[in-house]
Amino acid sequence: MVQESSSVRTMRRQVLLFMLARCLGFVLGQVTYSIPEEMAKGSVVGKIAHDLGLDVKRLKSGKARIYTEDNAEYIELNKDRGVLLVKERIDRETLCGQTTPCALHLQITLEDPIEFYTVTVEINDINDNAPSFKKEEMKFRISESAVIGAKFVLERAMDLDVGVNGLQGYTLKPTDHFQLKLNNQQDGSKKVEMVLQKHLDREAQEHLSLILTATDGGDPQLSGTMRVEISVLDVNDNAPVFTQEVYKVTITETAPKGTILCTVSAVDADQRINGKVSYSITNTLDDVPSLFRIDAENGLVSLYGNLDYEKTSHYEIHVQASDDGGLTDSCKIVVEVTDTNDNQPSINIMSKTNSISENSKSGTVVTIFNVQDPDSGENGKVTCNIKENMPFLMKTTSKKFLSLVTDGDIDREVASEYNITVTCADEGVPSLSSSVTLTLQISDVNDNAPVFERSSYEAYIVENNTPGLSIFTVKARDADWNQNARVSYILEDSSVNGVPVSSYVSVSADSGVIHDGGSPPLSSNVTVKIVIQDQNDNPLRSYVGYLVTKVVAVDVTLDRMPGSPINCRKPQTGTCTITRCAGRLTPERVTVSSAELVVRTC
Ligand SMILES: *[C@@H]1O[C@H](CO)[C@@H](O)[C@H](O)[C@H]1NC(C)=O
Ligand SMILES: *[C@@H]1O[C@H](CO)[C@@H](O)[C@H](O)[C@H]1NC(C)=O
Repeated sequence: MVQESSSVRTMRRQVLLFMLARCLGFVLGQVTYSIPEEMAKGSVVGKIAHDLGLDVKRLKSGKARIYTEDNAEYIELNKDRGVLLVKERIDRETLCGQTTPCALHLQITLEDPIEFYTVTVEINDINDNAPSFKKEEMKFRISESAVIGAKFVLERAMDLDVGVNGLQGYTLKPTDHFQLKLNNQQDGSKKVEMVLQKHLDREAQEHLSLILTATDGGDPQLSGTMRVEISVLDVNDNAPVFTQEVYKVTITETAPKGTILCTVSAVDADQRINGKVSYSITNTLDDVPSLFRIDAENGLVSLYGNLDYEKTSHYEIHVQASDDGGLTDSCKIVVEVTDTNDNQPSINIMSKTNSISENSKSGTVVTIFNVQDPDSGENGKVTCNIKENMPFLMKTTSKKFLSLVTDGDIDREVASEYNITVTCADEGVPSLSSSVTLTLQISDVNDNAPVFERSSYEAYIVENNTPGLSIFTVKARDADWNQNARVSYILEDSSVNGVPVSSYVSVSADSGVIHDGGSPPLSSNVTVKIVIQDQNDNPLRSYVGYLVTKVVAVDVTLDRMPGSPINCRKPQTGTCTITRCAGRLTPERVTVSSAELVVRTC
C-alpha cells in the first residue's frame, strides 16, 4: 500500500474546502497583483495579509493555504510575513503562450472559521524573446528575365513575446533589387513578400545575398535574421561579340589547301547553350565560300581552294557568330593575296615579215611583239633578248611592245635565212622565261658581179680544124641568187689580122629564158688566149690569140654571129664552151691578136 504524502492529503482537504466555500458562498475577499514574468525566486508578489485585512496571526491560526487550479506552484504564502512570494521562475510564454492577459488564479483558504479568498496574479510580459525564423536561409532561383513587380513570398518570423515585445516589423537588405512588402492577414499576422524593383542581370551578378531582419518593439529591441539566397538564372539576353571587328591576313597565292588563315573569336556573356557560339561565312555573291572554310565550333579559318593573285588579290570574308537563341554578331577578314612568280611571260607576235631584202637598212623592223607577264613587281618585269650572235636586236617600242630590228648590214650571200630565237624572261627569283623562234628569209639583190674561175685561159687548137669543134670552156660564177646570178657569155668584138675574132671563135651564152636581168647588170672580164697550131701545110707557125672576154650588161642577142669560125656550144649553166666555127682557120689569118670574149649576166 502506498502511503499518501501529507502534502497530497493537505491538497485534497483544500480542494474540498474550496468546493465547500464556493457552494456555501464563503468568498470573503478578492485581490489582484500584477508582476513581471521572470522575477527572482523569493521576490514579493504582494502583502496579502494586509491587502485582505487579515491579522498575520490569523494566517497561522487559520492554517492559511494556497490553492491553484492547475496545481502550479509558482507562488507561495509566507504566513510569518503575511506576503506572497515567487516560488518558481514564472515564464509567461510557458504559462500563457500568446494569450493575454496572462494570470495565475490563487485561492487562499482559512479554517476556524472557514474563510475563502481569491487572488489573481497577472504575469506581465517582459521582452525576453527575440523574433526568430524557422530556417536560417531561404533559396530562390529567379530568371534574369523576371519582370519588375514579380513577388516572392518569404517566411514569417516568430516572437514568443506579446504586445510591444512581440514581432513588430521586418527589413530586407540590401534594397537595390528587391523591396519588402508586408500584407496584413486576417489573423492579424503579416504576409512577408519581396518584390523585384530592378532587373536582374546574371552576367553582372549571378548570386544575390539578402538579409531579412525581424524586429520586436521591446526595449532593448530584439531581432532575428534569415539569409535570402538568390541564384539568377540565365536567359539568352546577350548576343555574341567578336573580339575584333576586322581581322587582317596576308597569304601567298601558292598557299596549299588547308592553310590556316586565322582564328576568329566571339564571346557570348550568356551561359551554357545560350552562350554557345557557332561561326559561319556569309558571303554569297563572290567565290569566297568556295575558297575559304570556317570551323563552326572554333572559328578556325582555312584555305579551301586555289588562290590566283592575277585573278583576285584581295578578299573580304564576312563571318557571322550566332548563339543558339539566334542572336548574332559579324566581323570581316581582309585577305591580301601576295604574288609569287607563277606566270611566265607570254610573247605574242603582233606583226611580222617573213623576208627582208639584204640591202635593208640597219634598224629595219622585222617583227613587233607584245609581251605580257601578269605577275606583279619584279615577277612581272620582263626583258627580251636574242642569244645568238646575229645582226638583229630587240628594241623596246612602248611599255608592252618590243620590236626585232636589223642591226648592221645583212648579206644574203653570208646567210640567206635566220632562225632568230627571242627569249623573254621576268625578274622573279627564280626567273621564268619563254621564247619564240622566227624564221627570216633574206631576199637577194644583185650586189655581186660574176667572177671567172680563172683570170686567164689558154687553149691549143690545130690549124684547119673542123669548124664547130669545142676549143675550151670558160666559167664565171655569181654569188647572187637566181636571176641575179644567171651568167651569159659574149665574145667581145675585136679583130685578128683585120678579121673579126668572131669569125674565128664564138662563145655560147647561157641562153636561159630572157628576163627582168640583174639590176644593175654587172660584168667582169677574162682574157682568153687561143693558140692555133700549125698543121704542116705550111712551115710551122703557131699563133696565139688572146680573147678578152667581158661580161657586159647587155642582152643575149649579141652572141649569135653567123659565119664566125668559132662558135659556142649550148652551154651548161654558168659555163660557156667556145667552139670552132665553120670557115678556114689558118695561122696566116690568125695572127697574134686578142679578142674579147664578152660574158654577160642576164
Ligand atoms: C631554221 O629552222 C628550220 C626548221 O627547224 C630548219 O629547217 C632550217 O635549216 C633552219 N635554218 C637555219 C639557217 O638554221
Ligand atoms: C674589160 O676590158 C675592157 C677592154 O680591155 C675594158 O675596157 C673594161 O673596162 C673591162 N671591164 C672590166 C669589168 O674589167
